[in-house]
Amino acid sequence: MSDRKILVTSALPYANGPIHLGHMVEYIQTDIWVRFQKQRQQQCYFVCADDTHGTPIMLRADSEGITPEQLIARVATEHLADFTEFGVAFDNFHSTHSEENKTLSSLIYRRLRDGGHIHSRSITQAYDPVKNMFLPDRFIKGDCPKCGAQDQYGDNCEACGATYSPIELKNAVSALSGEKPIEKDSLHYFFNLNDFADMLKQWIKADHLQSEVGNKMNEWLENGLHEWDISRDAPYFGFEIPDAPGKYFYVWLDAPIGYMASFKNLCARENLSFDEFWAEDSTAELYHFIGKDIIYFHALFWPAMLRGAQFRTPSAIFAHGFLTVNGEKMSKSRGTFIKARTYLEHLNPEYLRYYFAAKLGSGVDDIDLNFDDFTQRVNSDLVGKVVNIASRCAGFIHKRFDGLLSKHCAEPDLFGHFVEANEALAKLYENREFGKAMREIMALADRANQYIDEKKPWQMAKETDKDTELHEVCSIGLNLFRILVAYLKPVVPVLAHNAEIFLNIEAQTWPDDARPLLNHQIDVFRPLMTRVEPDKIAAIIEASKENLQKTQTPKARQFEPIADLIQFDDFAKLDLRIAKIIKADAVEGADKLLQLTVDIGDETRTVFAGIKSAYAPEQLIGKLTLVVANLASRKMRFGVSEGMVLAAGPGGRDIWLLSPDNGAVAGMRVK
Ligand code: MSP
Ligand code: ZN
Repeated sequence: MSDRKILVTSALPYANGPIHLGHMVEYIQTDIWVRFQKQRQQQCYFVCADDTHGTPIMLRADSEGITPEQLIARVATEHLADFTEFGVAFDNFHSTHSEENKTLSSLIYRRLRDGGHIHSRSITQAYDPVKNMFLPDRFIKGDCPKCGAQDQYGDNCEACGATYSPIELKNAVSALSGEKPIEKDSLHYFFNLNDFADMLKQWIKADHLQSEVGNKMNEWLENGLHEWDISRDAPYFGFEIPDAPGKYFYVWLDAPIGYMASFKNLCARENLSFDEFWAEDSTAELYHFIGKDIIYFHALFWPAMLRGAQFRTPSAIFAHGFLTVNGEKMSKSRGTFIKARTYLEHLNPEYLRYYFAAKLGSGVDDIDLNFDDFTQRVNSDLVGKVVNIASRCAGFIHKRFDGLLSKHCAEPDLFGHFVEANEALAKLYENREFGKAMREIMALADRANQYIDEKKPWQMAKETDKDTELHEVCSIGLNLFRILVAYLKPVVPVLAHNAEIFLNIEAQTWPDDARPLLNHQIDVFRPLMTRVEPDKIAAIIEASKENLQKTQTPKARQFEPIADLIQFDDFAKLDLRIAKIIKADAVEGADKLLQLTVDIGDETRTVFAGIKSAYAPEQLIGKLTLVVANLASRKMRFGVSEGMVLAAGPGGRDIWLLSPDNGAVAGMRVK
């Protein structure tokens, strides 16, 4: 059976955030598949890495006051700890910010360039004149050009769903500095994806994709392929492009090459042949497990890049759907945006591995984590059906027969039926039909329980002449249990390992020629899995809501201006005054703004302030606030603003002005 050579990857998680349960769908799905291959004694390697490059990571490190290298080192440790505790057993977990990746990215780029598949030309983009950098779409905010909704990102509107280019956005500002972006030209490098249109058409036809994914690809192909912009200007955290100083590879160029780099790193450590898996004529199998949101990168760009650089293309891409929790998109406020770590603090990771397995199929449908269903399935299947077989039989074997199984197998047919199921189950695992496999395994578990129910060992134990039969029935029960555990091993490896200790057997391979254990000494029984406790689920949801409060400030900070240090002289320039609000009016057409008339001592000013979320206009009359009195006037859509109102608090409903009863009066200077 061990004639296949298989290399498997999961998508590389971004190094700017924690692993959450949505991610875990993919890593668990891949891990189950890999464990299945290994249990069948195939030569199979599972590699992954953190995806470390790009603007968000650079800015996040900035906002934490650390270097990107420090940030990605810390996150890598956290990610790997989460994966490991969930039983996800990579053969290698590497980083895209590695020597191997740098070398391979340059090599692939050079080959594409020398093959005539790269061109460069100047393009115009939004540029932040304060931060001195080009702005990715996500870092530009403004009003939707279609529906006028305020505070939308540079590429699409969350209110009406329109997509557009950031240049079309009305009243656009940089989310980094708050400044209006300017347009600036710069030379960019492009990959001519269209050179590979025919190759991709052939490749898609050749069954490397799930049918629904193939259909989507064909639509894209019919609409025509565009050139792909693979460069970004400094400052950028990534690899500089060969012979192009100040230009960096766009993160998505070097990210999939990270699969190769991680494997290359493994090859050096374990003395494997890299070429055997990546050369153009390789006969090894290569599979990428990914989420449906990143199909475009994996099914179009990636095979084209590989072909253009004379490497082999993937054997298949396995896309999965998205995780919803209790039927809805994961939400921070509902406490359903659950970090892997939060789950691990409260519940056994194998519950979730089993639950995901029970829900996963080979398609791209979304899967739902419903906590009632989760509890019910784990309790009734794993605990109530599988583990129960062992606990029903082990006691008698120990109490009555010194822990020794009977010499004789009383039910060869039943045992044979369990072993024969291996072929159908192997097909299901191979085809990623884990849900169907779990149903088949549970049907076998039902069969085993039914056998015990019919034989009633607890009654035999009360009769004096039923010793042999009691011994045989309980021995059969444990032998059937052993086969079930072998089938479940890719899904619940810890339970399987503990069962092996209890059964006093070697690590189980795939049981295609298993024989019953006869006259075999077993170890003491220990509870292999306990029931899901509902209060633990409540605790996870509660903790995930708390995460929200704790993380909201840093998250908001991520998009706030990352202020450069100012000198005392800069500060001294501010004319800060206590101002009294004498008039406040709503502004027609603005959701957040109020028009305030404030008394600053020697004059009154009109100031627009975004504090409507916290105050009704009438609540403000007579209140005091801090004003920057020497701010240059600014023409806004609704009129001219002659100053800036300062308040404390994170925003939304929590904005605090000064209270009028501590001796402050309008016009007082603040130092
Ligand atoms: N860094 C890229 C992948 C580069 S691969 C060369 C990326 N990272 S990610 O952290 O956003 O996502 C990693 C994987 O997790 C992706 O395959 C993504 O589809 C998957 N998932 C992220 N959220 C998910 C859910 N809510 N549900 C299921 N899978 C999800 O994309
Ligand atoms: Zn809109």
